[in-house]
Parts: sequence; structure tokens; C-alpha cells
Amino acid sequence: MDTAPTLKIAPNNAAFHTLAADIFMGALDRMQDRAAAKNGPIRVVLPTGSTPLGLYRELIAHHAHRRDLWDRFHYVALDDYAGLAPDDRRLFSNWLDRDILKPLSIPSSHRTIFNSAAPSPSAECARMDALLDESGIDIAVLGLGTNGHIGFNEPGSAFDAQTRLIHLSADSLAANAAYWGGIDHVPHTAYTLGLGHIMQARETILLVQGSHKADILHRMLHDPISTALPATALRRMRNVTIIADQAAISAAEPSPQT
Ligand code: F6R
Repeated sequence: MDTAPTLKIAPNNAAFHTLAADIFMGALDRMQDRAAAKNGPIRVVLPTGSTPLGLYRELIAHHAHRRDLWDRFHYVALDDYAGLAPDDRRLFSNWLDRDILKPLSIPSSHRTIFNSAAPSPSAECARMDALLDESGIDIAVLGLGTNGHIGFNEPGSAFDAQTRLIHLSADSLAANAAYWGGIDHVPHTAYTLGLGHIMQARETILLVQGSHKADILHRMLHDPISTALPATALRRMRNVTIIADQAAISAAEPSPQT
């Protein structure tokens, strides 16, 4: 499936999560043979945020028995706050530990995460890039920021950007405030994988839910491809599936294809 993004639309909240889980498990299945042939892992980038939580619950409830896949599963961090202690509950790696990795018994040896407290951020970024240069990303699951960001690739991020430390935009600070009970609790700097590596993912699943995402989804699908709207990069990528709910799509696409 090497084509323009495929758009899948879920009529309601429950269907959104089931559809996301089915599509994600299909992608894992497709990567399984390749990984098994090399006796290697399936490297998967996962987002935090509100949108993927239902997917994670669905995977734990209905797909945990697929040990053949989970035993090969290797989590690669998409982004994370910088400057926090390893046990800080706000770290995205700890959030994902709580909400998906531990419930699915993914061992810590199957995780590539940022060292938030690394003394040299540039060395930390170089370490991630070296790993990604070597192995690449098999599956990237992504969310869409209301400002069009992907990971923390904020508007203006180059499509060949590498892993780096960024300052959260005002939009992202406000959006992240919802996770931690107020903007005062949101760190101002974060690591993010660059679009350069994300765009090379073998398969990508973008999750978009809610009427507050309708405008940015419409722009992502129809505006000129530009670094001003980082999510338009997905239109240059291979094997992209966008899963949207009706609320996100109705304003965006008058005649949706399912
Ligand atoms: C988080 C991340 C972000 C979110 C995006 C959407 O790891 O990469 O790009 O995916 O901000 O967040 P929600 O799902 O909370 O709307």
C-alpha cells in the first residue's frame, strides 16, 4: 500500500478505538514476518495525549493475547519533556508505561526512550538519531496537534529535521496544560524525533478525534504541503492511514470515503 493517505472514518467514539486497534494490529502483523526473518524487533513509535488512550485500552482488553507480536514489540519514544527526573510521572515514557507498556508486559529492555535529564541534550539527540539511522521505524502511531504539529515538530519544522530539543509553542503549552492540571505544571522544553526520521516510517497511523481538530485536519488534507503545517508531511509519506471520527471529519470533508 504505497499510495496517498487512506482515510478511515469511525461513526462514534467506541468505533474509533476499535477501528484504530484493528488497523494497528494489522500493521503489527504485516511487520511480523520482516522482523521474524531478521530475528529482530518491531519498532513502534507511540504518542501520548488524549486521542490514543482508547486505542491503548482496546489493545489491552482485546489483543493482549497476541504474545507472538508483543514479544517482538519495541517501543521507540516519539517525544518527551526535557529536564525531568526519571521517576517524574509527567514523562511521556512513564505515562506510556502506565497506560500500555506495563499492562502488555513489554519489558524495559524493549524500550528506547529519551533520557530527560541527560547532561548533554545534543549528545542525547545524536544517540537517538544513531539508533534510528540504524534501524528505522516500522510503525509510527501519531496524534495531530491543533496547530498541526506531529510529535513536537511545531510549525516551521523542516521535513528533514533530526531529533532535537525544542521550546513548546504557546499552543502546545496550552494543550499540555490539560494533561497536568494547569500550564504551570507543563515543562517548557521537550525532545522530539524529527520529521526526517518519522517520514521514513514503514507504516504510519494518524489518529484524529473531535470537532476541535476538524479545521486542522481539513488544512492538513488540503492546504499546500509546507513546513508551516508540519502534518502536511504525511502526504509525502508511504503507507499512511488516517483514522478520524465523524466530529473531526464532518467539517473537514463533506463527502467522506470510508
Ligand atoms: C504527544 C504528541 C503530540 C500529540 C498531539 C495531540 O506524544 O506527540 O503530538 O499527539 O498534541 O494530542 P491530543 O491527542 O491530546 O489531542
